[in-house]
Amino acid sequence: MSEIENFGDYETIEKHIIRPPIPNALKKYWNNRYNLFSRFDEGIWLDYQSWYSVTPERVAYSIAQSIFESHKPELVIDAFSGCGGNTIQFAKFCPVISIELDPIKIAMAKHNLAIYEIPSSRVTFIQGDVLDVLRSIDFASQYRTIIFMSPPWGGPSYSGKSTYSLNDLIPYTFDILYKEAFRITPYIAAFLPKNTDIDELAQYSTDKNRIVVTNFLYEGYSKAICCYFNMKNVLASTALQQV
Ligand SMILES: C[S@@+](CC[C@H](N)C(=O)[O-])C[C@H]1O[C@@H](n2cnc3c(N)ncnc32)[C@H](O)[C@@H]1O
Repeated sequence: MSEIENFGDYETIEKHIIRPPIPNALKKYWNNRYNLFSRFDEGIWLDYQSWYSVTPERVAYSIAQSIFESHKPELVIDAFSGCGGNTIQFAKFCPVISIELDPIKIAMAKHNLAIYEIPSSRVTFIQGDVLDVLRSIDFASQYRTIIFMSPPWGGPSYSGKSTYSLNDLIPYTFDILYKEAFRITPYIAAFLPKNTDIDELAQYSTDKNRIVVTNFLYEGYSKAICCYFNMKNVLASTALQQV
């Protein structure tokens, strides 16, 4: 039994792991499982919601690499850890604090990190509401910290909208999240829907603080964007990326 299985009540966690037969609504994500985690067959755990929420491995790696190469952070705060898609990749480069409301997802993330051979000392998980936790970790402002946010987009239906408003993020609007994160560090990255309202985003840009937006393409189509705020050193060459 792995260390992770000792976290919380394994029987409770086990009930949430999606295994074949895969529900119809998740089949397209299951078919894409090796893009989500190249080491999927080593025993990755995902709950229902995480199947459509996790950041695919190559995208998560690219974001982590861009942030590390441009800003050499001493600490990354992954504000919405989920089952660990981004946390695993950040932890390859530097220590991480990962915040997540759902303890089941934290247990799954710990298990998934172990599959990727990330030492447990590399990531501190904090279970709780993102705003409460961000307010409680003021010490992070003493370090060269980057805050990465991949908040829920409200389920797969986001893609049906012609434009996605930053006010539609769940459970807090982007503005609330950005202001709370900014109290710790100006270096903020956000993983957002491909159809995010660019005019709304532009309100966070000033002459001094440009926003770099990376558009992640898959088979020629935009899938999602990552926005880097106050991080002008993120290479422009990452701006359009085929994954
Ligand atoms: C899009 S998923 C993150 C996926 C993650 N980046 C990954 O690649 O595995 C968003 C996560 O935010 C969590 N969440 C929702 N509301 C939250 C809150 N108020 N505070 C902290 N986490 C929250 C959800 O449980 C969900 O796991």
